[in-house]
Amino acid sequence: MLRTNTCGELRAEHTGSRVTLCGWVQKIRELGGMTFIDLRDRYGITQLVFNMDIDAELCNRARELGREFVLSIEGEVKTRSNKNPEMETGDVEILVEKLVVLNASKVPPFTIENETDGGEEIRMKYRYLDLRREVQKNNLILRHKVLQETRKFLSDEGFLEIETPFLINSTPEGARDFIVPSRTNEHQFYALPQSPQTFKQLLMVGGFDKYFQIVRCFRDEDLRADRQPEFTQIDCEMTFVQQEDVLNIFGNLVKHLFKQIKNIDIPEFEIISHADALSNYGTDKPDMRFDMKLIELTKLVSGKGFNIFDDAEKVAGIVVKGCASYSRKQTDELIEFVTRPQIGAKGLIFAKWEEDGNFKSSVDKFFNSDDLAQWANAMGAEKGDLMLIVAGDTTVVQRALSELRLEMGNRLELRKPDDFKPLFVVDFPLFRWSEEEKRWDPLHHPFTSPKEEDLDKLDDDPGAINANAYDLVINGIEIAGGSIRIHKRDIQEKIFKAIGLSEEEAKEKFGFLMDAFEYGAPPHGGIAFGFDRIVALFGGTESIREYIAFPKNNAGRDVMIDAPGKVSQDQLDELGLSLKK
Ligand code: AMO
Repeated sequence: MLRTNTCGELRAEHTGSRVTLCGWVQKIRELGGMTFIDLRDRYGITQLVFNMDIDAELCNRARELGREFVLSIEGEVKTRSNKNPEMETGDVEILVEKLVVLNASKVPPFTIENETDGGEEIRMKYRYLDLRREVQKNNLILRHKVLQETRKFLSDEGFLEIETPFLINSTPEGARDFIVPSRTNEHQFYALPQSPQTFKQLLMVGGFDKYFQIVRCFRDEDLRADRQPEFTQIDCEMTFVQQEDVLNIFGNLVKHLFKQIKNIDIPEFEIISHADALSNYGTDKPDMRFDMKLIELTKLVSGKGFNIFDDAEKVAGIVVKGCASYSRKQTDELIEFVTRPQIGAKGLIFAKWEEDGNFKSSVDKFFNSDDLAQWANAMGAEKGDLMLIVAGDTTVVQRALSELRLEMGNRLELRKPDDFKPLFVVDFPLFRWSEEEKRWDPLHHPFTSPKEEDLDKLDDDPGAINANAYDLVINGIEIAGGSIRIHKRDIQEKIFKAIGLSEEEAKEKFGFLMDAFEYGAPPHGGIAFGFDRIVALFGGTESIREYIAFPKNNAGRDVMIDAPGKVSQDQLDELGLSLKK
C-alpha cells in the first residue's frame, strides 16, 4: 500500500507514530509561518501542518498546491493544541516531513463541500467530483449497506440469488421498452427487461422454490424524482405460497432493514383494501403518518339548490384540525392549489367552525349554521377546525383531496421525517379501463391471478374482478408491488383475451410461458421492491438520483458521458438499420 493509515483513523493514541497518508487536498490555510492542509479520503479528513521555521522549502511547496491535488505525505502524528471536536481526527495533526504530489488537479467547477455552489446539471456532468462530497459518499455507503442486509436476510431465509438475462423480449409492466437491434438476426430486436417477471416465474416452474435477484430494470417512461429509466429492484418469487405468506416474509425483510439500517422497530403493518385506500385517502398510496381521512358528504349536502353539489358525482372533504383561523389569503392559496391543472378540481369549498362557536363558510348563501353543524358532525370536526370540501367526478375529487391532505400534512408538519408507517394495500382490481385504447388493461401486469371467486366475471364484468395483488406503501411512496400469479394455461389465455391480445399475439409473445404452465407449473407468487426508493426512504430525500452512482437526468440523459449518442453509419449498416434523412 502507498499509505500506512487512512485519513479517518488517527486519534490521540497515535501521537508520536510516523505515518504515510494519501488523499485529496480539501482546503489550504496559511497562518503566519504555518500552512495547514485538510487531507481527505473516503474515511475522513486529517489536518496536515507545514512549519516555515522547520522546513521553509517544504512549506513553500505546500503553499503552491491547489484544491483536489492528490498527495502522499509522510510525517509524525502530533497532539493538537486546539483540538477540533467536530472532526473525528480532530485531536491530532501530522507534522509533514515528506510531500509527494501524486497528481495535480484543475480547479474543480464547484466546491466539493456538502453545501456546494454547483447546480445539479454541472454536478451531473462532473459526477466523479460530486461523488467526492461527503453527502454523496454517505448515500452510496447507505446503498451498499441496504444491499448487503437484503442479501443476508433473503439468503438466510433460503432464497437463491439467480441472474436472468437482459437481452430478452418485451415484458409488459406498463412502460415502453428499450429496444436493442440484433446484428446477427437482421431486423430483429431484443427488448431490455422492464422486470424479470416471466423469468422468475419460469424459475418456479424449474423448481427453485425461492428466488431473489437484485436486478437492473429498464423502463422508457416519463421521469420523476422517484423514477429512473434504469433502476434496481429486489425481485423475489416463491412457490406454494398464498398472499399472506408473501406479505409475512417480505414484511419481515422490511422490518429487518429498518432495524439494521435505522435501528427502528417497525410494528405490525397495516393492511387495507384498494377500495378503502381510495375512499379514505383518495389514493392507493396513502401516507399513514397522519389521519385526516376523506369523508363522503354526497348525500348530506345535495338537494339544497347548490348546483356544484347537486350535479357532482361525489362530494367529500377533510377536516384540518385547528385551522379555522385561516385567513382569506391562506384559503385562497388552497383554492389555487386544488385548481392547478395537474390536480384539476373546479374549486374548493371551505367551512370554518370558529373558536367562538360560529360557523363561516364560502357557501353561506346556500347553507346555514344548522347545515354546517351537520357537516361538522358528519366529518367529526370540532370547534377551531377547518373543513375543506371538493365536489365533482369521483377521480378528480379523490385526487384533489389526496393532494390537499398531503399539503395540509406538510403545512401542519404531520409528515415527520423519522416516522415510518408501512402499509400493505391489497385487493386491487385486476383491470382498469383505458379510455385511450378503449380496452381493459392490467392494473399490475397480465400474469397476476384473479381472485378465484371472481373468475366467472371475466366475460361480462371484467372491471369487477379483484386480483391477488398487493403493494407495499411507506409514507406515501410505492415501495413494492407483487401478486400471486396465474399458473394455468387456460386462465392465462383468458386474461390475454380480456386485455385484447389475439390468440396468435398471445402465442407469439408469451407462448413460452403458457407452454411451461403445461408441464406441472406450481402455484407461485412474489413481489418486487423498488430498491432505489427504499434507499432514498432510509436516506430521507425524495429523489432516488442521489442514491445512484451514475444516474440519468430528467430527460433520460447521462450528461457526463453524453448518452444517448449517435452511432456511425457503419454500425447502422451492419445492423440493417438506416436513419430517416
Ligand atoms: P412494479 O412495476 O410495481 O412491479 O415495480 C416494482 C417496484 O419497482 C419500483 N419502480 C421504480 N423505481 C424507480 N424507477 C422506476 N422507473 C420504477 N418503476 C417501478 C417501484 C415499484 O413498486 N414484476 C412486478 C413485480 C411483481 O409482480 O413481482 C413489477 O415490476 O417501487
